[in-house]
Amino acid sequence: MYAEINGLRMFFEDRGSSGDSTDVIVFLHGFPLDHSIWRHQLDYFSTGYRCIAPDLRGFGASSELKKPPQPTPLTVDTFAADIVALLDHLKIKSADFVGLSMGGYIALAIWRRLATRRRVRRLIFSNTRAAGDTAETKANRKRQAELVKTKGMRPYADEMLPRLLAPENMERCGNEVRHMIERTHPDTIVATLEALATRKDMTDWLRRVQAKTLVIAGEKDVISPPSDSEVIAREVDGAKLVVIPGAGHLTPLEQPNAFNEAMYAFLR
Ligand code: MLT
Repeated sequence: MYAEINGLRMFFEDRGSSGDSTDVIVFLHGFPLDHSIWRHQLDYFSTGYRCIAPDLRGFGASSELKKPPQPTPLTVDTFAADIVALLDHLKIKSADFVGLSMGGYIALAIWRRLATRRRVRRLIFSNTRAAGDTAETKANRKRQAELVKTKGMRPYADEMLPRLLAPENMERCGNEVRHMIERTHPDTIVATLEALATRKDMTDWLRRVQAKTLVIAGEKDVISPPSDSEVIAREVDGAKLVVIPGAGHLTPLEQPNAFNEAMYAFLR
């Protein structure tokens, strides 16, 4: 389905019961991916919940970033505002938010703003972190932006795949993830790399989170290793941490059964 919001034609999956009393889960994908990273969760949770899984601005089937009228520069708050606008459009007052990596940054950004905090019922952070970028990560993002501008998406996907997936999951999940990356417009990649490099360090905010929180890590995640998840679980009052074996950065896709069980036990 599509929604026209914030000057954007946003694609989203809307699955499961849509009755007023149904609990809603919003699934926020990571970078450089799209909503289909959640396909196993949508199958599993749409039997009991209304599941909303958007393609973020410029990703998947949501319209590409264009130089005006799109906001410049793009920030994590821009993505957060798009999600709140989508909820407004769907007349959804509040939801549980599940964010994978960048999706976790966005969920935290929605929670951080007083005006949008009431939209958040519970939080599930998957393979994410609260800290901002180090100087080294920022420099790497600059280099990757140059790579995409000069050489296109294929060498970028070649570089990202072994970082996103645990080696044992490459054969099973590699083609699907490569397709997600390569279909993304280079302008979206470049603008989002900049948005990620300039995002705020949110560590100090974790202690103020009052929503019930689950933190999920992939044992073999080299982008947001379990130590990043430990920080979130330690700082957020009452948060529970689950580390899933045999998963890299894309735990919901790499180990869907273990991911779904952890999420189900938390939401129940
Ligand atoms: C993601 O999966 O969303 C990215 O790894 C986020 C990042 O690069 O900071």
